[in-house]
Amino acid sequence: MRVGILTAGGDCPGLNAVIRAAARRLLTHGHEPVGLRRGYRGLAEREHMRLDGQSVSGILHLGGTILSTSNYNPFREPNGVEKVNAAQAADELDAVIAIGGEHTMMITRRVQEELGIPVVGVPKTIDNDVTQTDYTFGFDTAVQIATDAIDRLHTTAQSHDRVMLLEVMGRNTGWIAVFAGIAGGADGILIPELELTVEEIAANVKRRHERGKSFSIIVVAEGAELAFESGERRLVRTSEEVDAYGYPRLGGIATALAIELEQRTGFESRVTSLGHIQRGGTPTATDRLLATRYGAHAADLVMAGDTGRMVALHGTEMTSVPLSAVEGIKTVDLRYLEIARTFFG
Ligand code: F6P
Repeated sequence: MRVGILTAGGDCPGLNAVIRAAARRLLTHGHEPVGLRRGYRGLAEREHMRLDGQSVSGILHLGGTILSTSNYNPFREPNGVEKVNAAQAADELDAVIAIGGEHTMMITRRVQEELGIPVVGVPKTIDNDVTQTDYTFGFDTAVQIATDAIDRLHTTAQSHDRVMLLEVMGRNTGWIAVFAGIAGGADGILIPELELTVEEIAANVKRRHERGKSFSIIVVAEGAELAFESGERRLVRTSEEVDAYGYPRLGGIATALAIELEQRTGFESRVTSLGHIQRGGTPTATDRLLATRYGAHAADLVMAGDTGRMVALHGTEMTSVPLSAVEGIKTVDLRYLEIARTFFG
């Protein structure tokens, strides 16, 4: 079999581990993995990369993706579908393994249903918001990076009696904020799933300081809205641009919140925004293991002809679900936030 492998959407720690595992599994069974460069653009434009034992060697621990990535959507690009059909005929790919987030899974489903190319999806994102799987790879690494940042911020927060706000990624969901917030001992967490007004956050900070604490650390997910008692709501973004999937370029809510908190509490409030640092660098051991299991299982499904599916982690079990079931966004289980709240105020 000739099996295309592509990475689409934002980069994420563990992409190379998936590529390596899928390619090695296919090679071991006498099949030919083909790297498709820059997501679905590589399929449409026939930009290929040889994936042999040598090219996937030494990449397990590397961040980014050796295949490069993009948000290319063949169903939206001019002549995208015709190009994919022509490329498929010319290159004789028997299947495609597509590694990406929720939008990639939707595109991947359509590629099989509408274009007849057998596909298997692998769920990726530091945000952990792909449905039908307990965890996406990349999330653990992002949580670890954010937790390390909280640990380091404690030093300055405590030494200078400051309120320190840490802005983390999570455009639709607050998984990183909640997990890192619990692991780092945050004194407040703001996420898109649960509205907290500026006034409520200020009151929590004041209460904590009245109890004798001289500092606070607040973790803010970039996708949370700045909300006021008056009913005013604001999504804070760095530009008016939207990406190919229509998402705004987010960032800056922690800065906006810090100004409001300083005015209301009188405590000096400072901001750190982690941005793409959360997506860069080497994956944790947990993510390498998960990515390797995902990659190997995706290859197994392709070899078994069991396509139209996304590999998934249910509990500790590696399994798969139909791509048609992968819809919407997996929001934070609010029981985690309930635990985190024990330590607020
Ligand atoms: O989906 C992963 C993610 O890192 C989000 O948390 C973030 O909002 C978005 O991607 C940023 O994407 P880009 O790098 O394209 O601006």
